[in-house]
Amino acid sequence: MLRVVVLVSGSGSNFADLLDRARSGRVAVEVIAVGADRECGGIEIARAAGIPTFVEPFAPPREAWSDRIAERVEAFEPDLVVLSGFMRLLSAEAVSRFEPALLNTHPAFLPEFPGAHGVRDALAAGVTETGASVIIVDSGVDTGPILAQQRVPVLEGDTEATLHERIKLVERELLAEVLAGIADGSIDLADHGLEHRLDQPDTAPEEAK
Ligand code: GAR
Repeated sequence: MLRVVVLVSGSGSNFADLLDRARSGRVAVEVIAVGADRECGGIEIARAAGIPTFVEPFAPPREAWSDRIAERVEAFEPDLVVLSGFMRLLSAEAVSRFEPALLNTHPAFLPEFPGAHGVRDALAAGVTETGASVIIVDSGVDTGPILAQQRVPVLEGDTEATLHERIKLVERELLAEVLAGIADGSIDLADHGLEHRLDQPDTAPEEAK
């Protein structure tokens, strides 16, 4: 069973779906903790479900805040960390502590429309289709290796809210597929172009003092 820590900032509807799948045995993961950068719906859902939570409010400098988040996550010794609507960028150093076992879902067909407003930006661009993606987080903004993605049509009359809800349905399926693949070994996160980081030698004992 994959032990997963989930980080959220918003309503947490994708996290709630993941939890439902996990608890009903439809995906072989255990959500061992949920963290957030603010009080939010996702944290409320976790508390109501009896899952350990932590809130580490964002405060500059980003590096120190990211270190605090990383420490809170590491305390649970997860196999994997999933950003599920976590709307803050972690420092490159914090990312490197988890890479490649740090995933993010994004409401666009990356590399199209990265960043915090993927749905709004797609609508503003007037495209007829956008999409959903699951990626490994690297130190850039939504630039990491793509593990799964699917197109979603933009329908006439779509608002940001209606389009986003339709994209989230796809994100949930894609994330579940990716997690199932990691759990059954058909997806190896080390195969996705980040090996150089995994290959870094362990600190020699004499250096660790
Ligand atoms: C999801 O669409 C997720 O992909 C997106 O926030 C939403 C969270 O919804 N994340 C990003 O845009 C990250 N750049 P939820 O809180 O209802 O699960």
